[in-house]
Amino acid sequence: MSQTINQTLPNSEKIQHESRFLKAARREPVDAVPIWLMRQAGRYMPEYRQLREKYSILELIKTPELACEVTMQPLQAFDLDAAIIFADILPPLEGMGLELDFVHGEGPVIYNPVRTAADVERLATPPAEEALSFTLKAIELARQALDERAIPLIGFSGAPFTLASYAVEGGSSKDKLHLKSLMYSEPRSWHSLMDKLATVAGNYLLAQAQAGAQALQLFDSWVGELSPQDYRDYVQPHSRKALEIAKQAGVPLIHFGTNTSGMLTDIRDAGGDVIGVDWRIDIDKAAAILGDSVAVQGNLDPIALHAPWSELEKRATDILKRMHGRNGFIFNLGHGILQTTPVDNVKRLVDFVHEYTKV
Ligand code: CP3
Repeated sequence: MSQTINQTLPNSEKIQHESRFLKAARREPVDAVPIWLMRQAGRYMPEYRQLREKYSILELIKTPELACEVTMQPLQAFDLDAAIIFADILPPLEGMGLELDFVHGEGPVIYNPVRTAADVERLATPPAEEALSFTLKAIELARQALDERAIPLIGFSGAPFTLASYAVEGGSSKDKLHLKSLMYSEPRSWHSLMDKLATVAGNYLLAQAQAGAQALQLFDSWVGELSPQDYRDYVQPHSRKALEIAKQAGVPLIHFGTNTSGMLTDIRDAGGDVIGVDWRIDIDKAAAILGDSVAVQGNLDPIALHAPWSELEKRATDILKRMHGRNGFIFNLGHGILQTTPVDNVKRLVDFVHEYTKV
């Protein structure tokens, strides 16, 4: 049933051919630069905060009708070129046997973190259809809602390293001490853990495309904590495996990380049609390093959205000038939008990117 959603919705073909987001991901010419924003649904929006008064974040994620509603909130408020399914990178860890909660003021917590070989051994790798059916159902609903407006939907997963960082640390962590200790001192357990995470992430991405997602993003938010050599030795094969599984879907794959200026070609070589970069490098420089075989997504500092419009406009213009004339550019932030972001600046930015680049 879910396999066929791409074909059965009336506007599916039109979206494939006309969406400027999908065209840019395929490095085809566009009528204006496409823009979407990482974490575009969330607490900076009053509509979202209102729903959060009644429901926890996990309730929102696990109730397909609510997840669909939240997915649509930024599309109703702004002229964005893509939607991203409302979910989080952490629920797949629950299916593997970890106890997850989001604790007010602390962020995510895993009550039984992975620390030993036995802990790794115990981790399950259930199919996404079983463990994450709520998000797959939410994707089907969101596709129906978006089809009327001919807007494509992005599915996503955390990458093995970023998932491992939560699984091993038990929550957010600055120095990743437990994570790197496991990596350096127990390489066999490390690779076994990463292989299980790659299986879960890859299959989850593939299942999201089969449920209707027209592009997929792998978030490796914390990968910049590693030296490039450690990335190549301990992480890259596993990200490659996840992306290879997802590739079977035949939709564009976005591979995103932060603090990756020193390892851009390594990230690219792990896979992905589009590489997401942060603001710690000039975007044209990143594009030159990455070369013509991939599209580029980025890279405004999310804090710039807090600046007066004239400053924000200056920074957005700089990025657009640097990428002028290059096929395969998707405007985005260099990392997720912050909860303190003024909604009005988001609206102005989205409209500005279109107006400034319209051909
Ligand atoms: O982009 C979107 O609109 C889709 C939704 C989305 C969320 N999380 C919703 C969310 C996406 C793509 C994510 C990805 C995610 N989650 C990442 C990778 C991207 C990144 O920002 O680095 C990571 C590392 C997480 C883990 C996570 N989830 C953390 C660290 C937190 C707590 C921090 C915080 O902002 O509170 C979350 C919670 C979370 N996920 C929120 C949202 C909207 C806020 C929770 C709330 O509503 O209270």
